[in-house]
Amino acid sequence: PRLVILISGTGSNMLALVEACRRGDLDATVAGVISNRPDAAGVQHARDRDIPALVVDHKEFSDRLAFDKAMMDAIDEFDPDLVVLAGFMRILTPEFVRHYQGRLLNIHPSLLPLYPGLNTHQRAIDAGDSTHGVSVHFVTEELDGGPVVAQAVVSVTADDSANSLKDKVHAQEHVLYPIVVKWFVEGRLRLTSKSVTLDGKEL
Ligand code: GRF
Repeated sequence: PRLVILISGTGSNMLALVEACRRGDLDATVAGVISNRPDAAGVQHARDRDIPALVVDHKEFSDRLAFDKAMMDAIDEFDPDLVVLAGFMRILTPEFVRHYQGRLLNIHPSLLPLYPGLNTHQRAIDAGDSTHGVSVHFVTEELDGGPVVAQAVVSVTADDSANSLKDKVHAQEHVLYPIVVKWFVEGRLRLTSKSVTLDGKEL
């Protein structure tokens, strides 16, 4: 199976997936990486590993739909079985989401449905939460609102800052995302009209 990974930044989750493929833990190929930001560090990280990495700069498009259409063209050139959002910081149009329905995953740094959107670590601290974490979900038209496939939990301690929590969450992300992608490429994970199934059972 072929993966295309969309990034906007460092790409540490992208690298975790690349490494999982290299180790043989994940029987897939990272066919390409696409960033909407020319300066995203992940672009170079991918190229350093001989993975084709493209930039589709959202600033060069007059509107969201024009950008998404260019993204779809770039993605589809790689002929992916699964499109993986890994720190991709653009809101996607319904047209884009529908085009990849059932083969589009995102990782979000909170225990959804808590804290969709930005600044999730600070919001967990401000709320006095004792636990926080990360969710992998299928993408639907609702922002950070598609059905959750799996979560990993971290504890929040009194001395945690948004930064320290971010590091804890990242460590979990790099374990969780390859596991969920593995389920998908093995054909075990499906988005049905109502829910997500793993090995045929509703999650
Ligand atoms: C991660 O925290 C992910 O959950 C969020 O953006 C961050 C991306 O980090 N969507 P990286 O670029 O993979 O290092």
